[in-house]
Amino acid sequence: MSLTALTSNDARLIEQGYPDTDSRAFRRCLGQYPTGVAVITARHNGKLLGMAVNSFAAVSLDPPLVLWSIRRESARAADFCEAEHLAVNVLSANQVQVSQWFGSAHPDRFQMAAWEPDAHGAPLLDGAIAHLECRRHAVLDGGDHFILLMRVERHASYQGEPLLFAQGQYAVTQSHPYVLASREATATAPASDVAVVPLLRLLSIANQRMSAQFQQHREALGLNTSSTRVLNKLGVGACSVEELERLTYLGHEAVEDTLADLQAHSYIAKDAAGRFELTRSGRDTNAAIAARSAAFAAGKLQGLSESDVAAAKRVLLALQDR
Ligand SMILES: Cc1cc2nc3c(=O)[nH]c(=O)nc-3n(C[C@H](O)[C@H](O)[C@H](O)COP(=O)(O)O)c2cc1C
Repeated sequence: MSLTALTSNDARLIEQGYPDTDSRAFRRCLGQYPTGVAVITARHNGKLLGMAVNSFAAVSLDPPLVLWSIRRESARAADFCEAEHLAVNVLSANQVQVSQWFGSAHPDRFQMAAWEPDAHGAPLLDGAIAHLECRRHAVLDGGDHFILLMRVERHASYQGEPLLFAQGQYAVTQSHPYVLASREATATAPASDVAVVPLLRLLSIANQRMSAQFQQHREALGLNTSSTRVLNKLGVGACSVEELERLTYLGHEAVEDTLADLQAHSYIAKDAAGRFELTRSGRDTNAAIAARSAAFAAGKLQGLSESDVAAAKRVLLALQDR
């Protein structure tokens, strides 16, 4: 079967293929669809269960049904499928660490995270932006996953921003520039409040534009945001897959894909302890991207007075502390 272009967007095409021949590329394509992150918990046969998932989805309002899917091969699949009561904890943007604890088989995750049991003993995590207490409704066949359909019996929402997962990495929500623009246009707030909105909007736009502009430097070296981040961390010292997951905020699969890619380019190799380290050409590439980054930053600041830059730094530092 020959590949034909899927759309007229050839210049923007990253990859295309067929799930049957390359399941990793298929998974990356699915990762283009952003999701939130939830930790599903339960107490089953006296055992606490908890797993970070991004397959959680709303299904029905009447009856109130939600679903998520679990890998058949997971050591905890049987326990989760048998549990009568389960809780969904929708994570906030401040809970990347919680996602990392529950996204691995970390033995102490229930000691590290603060929680209290619901009426059936399922852990409700502190800091989540929503809790849904559920009863198992059905377990369906989902290929290499089981689909757990659950009936929601009680729900609670809390203040906070959601944690997102998109393109293999953690992300946070940001109002679309159109939304901010329309807020400004209709703002009836006092002048002092209105003055703050354009500044924050400018910050967000500047950040997005500069990141997009720097992309050409990564591409020139055959890198993308994930491989740049992994090379950067390995520049400090050898790391295991788990350490890279924690340090780069990339998901497990994205780290594995990136390592496979970097290894294929001979930028990294495994050391005697099985950790990944930079090869000579990996160190050269890392130095090249660091040099481009420094030159890019210098170019951006060129022509600005020292006092302007110092004032901007003061404002940004002050904004972080408020
Ligand atoms: C952001 C994120 C989303 C995940 N989504 C799912 C999912 O939807 N289904 C699943 O089975 N595993 C998912 N995982 C992986 C599980 O959390 C991980 O495999 C599990 O905690 C490790 O335990 P296990 O050995 O029992 O699989 C996800 C992990 C992360 C970090």
